[in-house]
Amino acid sequence: MKAVQAYIKKNKKRFLDELLEILKIPSVSADPKFKKDVAKTAKSVAAHLKKAGADNVAVCETKGHPIVYGEKVIDKKLPTVLVYGHYDVQPADPIELWDSPPFKPVIKKTKIHPQGAIFARGACDDKGQMFMHIKAFEAMMKENALPCNVKFLIEGEEEVGSVNLDTFCKLNKKRLEADVVLISDTSIISNKQPSITVGLRGLSYVEVEVTGPNKDLHSGVYGGAVGNPINVLSKMIASLHDKNGKITIPGFYNDIIPVSRKERNQMAKAPFSLAAYKKSLKVKDVQGEKGYTTSERASIRPTLDVNGIWGGYIGEGAKTVLPSKAFAKISMRLVPGQDPDKITKLFVKHFKSLAPASVKVEVRPHHGGHPAVTPTNTPEYQAAALAMKKTFKKEAIPTRGGGSIPIVSLFEKTLGVKSVLMGFGLNSDDIHSPNEHYGIFNYYRGIETIPYFFENYANLKKK
Ligand code: BES
Ligand code: MN
Ligand code: MN
Repeated sequence: MKAVQAYIKKNKKRFLDELLEILKIPSVSADPKFKKDVAKTAKSVAAHLKKAGADNVAVCETKGHPIVYGEKVIDKKLPTVLVYGHYDVQPADPIELWDSPPFKPVIKKTKIHPQGAIFARGACDDKGQMFMHIKAFEAMMKENALPCNVKFLIEGEEEVGSVNLDTFCKLNKKRLEADVVLISDTSIISNKQPSITVGLRGLSYVEVEVTGPNKDLHSGVYGGAVGNPINVLSKMIASLHDKNGKITIPGFYNDIIPVSRKERNQMAKAPFSLAAYKKSLKVKDVQGEKGYTTSERASIRPTLDVNGIWGGYIGEGAKTVLPSKAFAKISMRLVPGQDPDKITKLFVKHFKSLAPASVKVEVRPHHGGHPAVTPTNTPEYQAAALAMKKTFKKEAIPTRGGGSIPIVSLFEKTLGVKSVLMGFGLNSDDIHSPNEHYGIFNYYRGIETIPYFFENYANLKKK
């Protein structure tokens, strides 16, 4: 292990330069305009895997963007770690709010990242974190210190719902056989306080369309007499929460597996400053479901949020118009026990029941995902906890993440394998936002910690 750490130290500069190169390719999976760039990124990831020492490296075509595979099977009797990550990124919009171009990575110091952070779309989510695994693997290979088998599954459609990954897993069950999935696509509490994500929220996502009159009308001639779809939609959306911040869809909370007081008390021990939180977002106050703390609202409780809303006239000046249509995109984050398909059905039924006879309502469900929980009494959790303790010199705290990684539950269902979520980002790294960044400290700390995970996991599985 000393040799591996020495190799990492010696090659640090190159490890950073190589990541910067990958960050220059705009692998935006959501926008067909970038299809070629997504493919180029896949090829580059494959080339890096090969160079690091992986066998059977392949860029596997799907109906959408390609999946990169690679493996090093040293001994069938040894345990196998399946490393999952994604090389696709979110769109960079709104581009004008970036301080530097999203696909021209620059390194800048910040208060939280005094050693510097890489500013680029995908720096943290997930190119930077995914690439740590390739570099850690390279170090273990070059120093002849890989303690167990490893397989890599790096996809290009995570940000659009991993639509083709399930089919790929079903078709490649044998090839993907493993004892555990290792994922770095989540955050730690801070650079001084490591944590391991033991739960993720699920997702139900719908688009609604409210139609009033058959055409846009003069808002003076018809206004007041004909249902205005934007007015109606706003009212319908407003009614989806009550005064206590509870979601009003009947049955919405029915299946939730409650979190015990004891667990909540445990979670409350994780360092969190509400004052600093508010300050970082420039808000005077927070809001949410009554009876829960800010941390709980953003992790163990479900949500309903409008992600976008449009309709009518939004150009320069004032156009007097009573629009024919109004639209909104609505997401619901789900917690363990809640089923995305069932929640979507409950939403559709309730939302349609809210509509007055003056409008028609259509609801179109998008991709969703199941919540995930991972136990702490497993060799993989122990291996991650020990690894983090080794490099951070501090005990890791188990935490629940508010985001979603739908494939975690899918790996369990399709491959029968549990995941361990050993991420190294910070919640303040602005993933999906303008000026996304990833600490150089975090990047290197990840590369240093991963080999310890492999060593610990191989040892713990032996016993
Ligand atoms: N890496 C994130 C998920 C995440 C971020 C989990 C931070 C925990 C902490 C992932 O790339 C992501 O953005 N997932 C999407 C879901 C997907 C279906 C588009 C999300 O959470 O919105
Ligand atoms: Mn991600
Ligand atoms: Mn993401």
